[in-house]
Amino acid sequence: MSKSITFHIQPGGKLHGETRVPGDKSMSHRSIMLGSLADGVTHVTGFLEAEDALATLQAFRDMGVEIEGPTNGCVTIHGVGKHGLKEPKNELYLGNSGTSMRLLSGLLAGQPFNCVLTGDKSLSGRPMKRVTDPLATMGADIKTTENGTAPLHITGKAGQLQAIDYTMPIASAQVKSCLLLAGMYAQGETRVTEPAPTRDHTERMLAGFSYPVKREGSTAVISSEGSLKAMDIDVPSDISSAAFFLVGASIAPGSDVTLKHVGINPTRTGVIDILRLMGANIEVLDPREVGGEPVADLHVVYSPLKGIDIPEHLVPLAIDEFPVLFVAAACAEGQTRLSGAEELRVKESDRIQVMADGLQILGVDAQPTPDGMVINGGRPIGGGVVTSHGDHRIAMSFSIAGLRANAPITVLDCANVNTSFPEFKDLVKDLGLALVCTEE
Ligand code: S3P
Repeated sequence: MSKSITFHIQPGGKLHGETRVPGDKSMSHRSIMLGSLADGVTHVTGFLEAEDALATLQAFRDMGVEIEGPTNGCVTIHGVGKHGLKEPKNELYLGNSGTSMRLLSGLLAGQPFNCVLTGDKSLSGRPMKRVTDPLATMGADIKTTENGTAPLHITGKAGQLQAIDYTMPIASAQVKSCLLLAGMYAQGETRVTEPAPTRDHTERMLAGFSYPVKREGSTAVISSEGSLKAMDIDVPSDISSAAFFLVGASIAPGSDVTLKHVGINPTRTGVIDILRLMGANIEVLDPREVGGEPVADLHVVYSPLKGIDIPEHLVPLAIDEFPVLFVAAACAEGQTRLSGAEELRVKESDRIQVMADGLQILGVDAQPTPDGMVINGGRPIGGGVVTSHGDHRIAMSFSIAGLRANAPITVLDCANVNTSFPEFKDLVKDLGLALVCTEE
């Protein structure tokens, strides 16, 4: 049995200082996947040593890839080449990680072996038809449960996949990446069109590994013609982890925080745009490019926020940051409205319902809608006991709310913070939040 972890937050305080949050989760997953398929040895620095990325790392070890580390964020991957993966002896257990399961389903559909992908309770409840349906039209054989969920039983169809020209019904980087990885093993040119821009780390990293991938407007194009050449990858800090500090410093008077070496890929910076529209004071310092990805230091100081209608085009660009943006909205004067974000209902938890329930316990006027939330902010936040429902980002968001609360907040079920940001409780304490963690 895993331990039950509770965060206890004393109200008030401010955030002050400089920190570097851990490596980007999306890029860490992809560094292992593509490094494993490359010819030669790939060195990764800044790798996220958290459960989700480690699940991907273990899966590739289970498929015969020799991987050294991680040690202080350094990983060395002895690539086996595009056709070098071996049949795993057991099921591949992917924990809480939707990215691992969805990307691997595409990559493994065209291998010369069978395998089974499993996950924890949350992952086993998440929709997988969004990947298995288009993969089936490519000729893949992947069985889900009757509900379209994991476990996924994959019968490898090496040499039998056909390219697809697919327009995604939802703006999902996981679906896009899944199909591009399958397209590396399919006959013909696979084309994936997105209804709105989503994170493009797969395309950028494939190009970094010298694998041809074209972009034609909103369509990414790939074929089986190509191989990956090993390279060195410096993973920047995860803007999704930085977001807790961007919001915390924005809502707590007297705050002044600098976040070093943060990835600011334009497909990820919706959180900065939304906070700035609300009146936040965020400076992007020393923008630079590291290994094909834009990086900068972010400087944020307290500034009173106001409620806004969140522009829908920013939703996919801030998809993981809404739990903490709801906390910003609770502190903002006036009404904040989010719509067009029904995807939040099928993340690690139903993030619309779980955040609305918790904010209401804390006395916030937060009304869930089918595809978003309406929050009338600016009133004092109270204390109380809320639950994260095992969702890492919910746990961290309610912790940040403590900066503006007038009584202690207890957050239950926080063990899964380890899936993306094990250092959260230490870093946030160093910068000034009075958080105590207990384990039972
Ligand atoms: C991710 C894509 C997003 C995001 C997830 C990571 C990725 O999911 O929410 O945390 O690494 O490709 P969707 O593609 O389902 O929106």
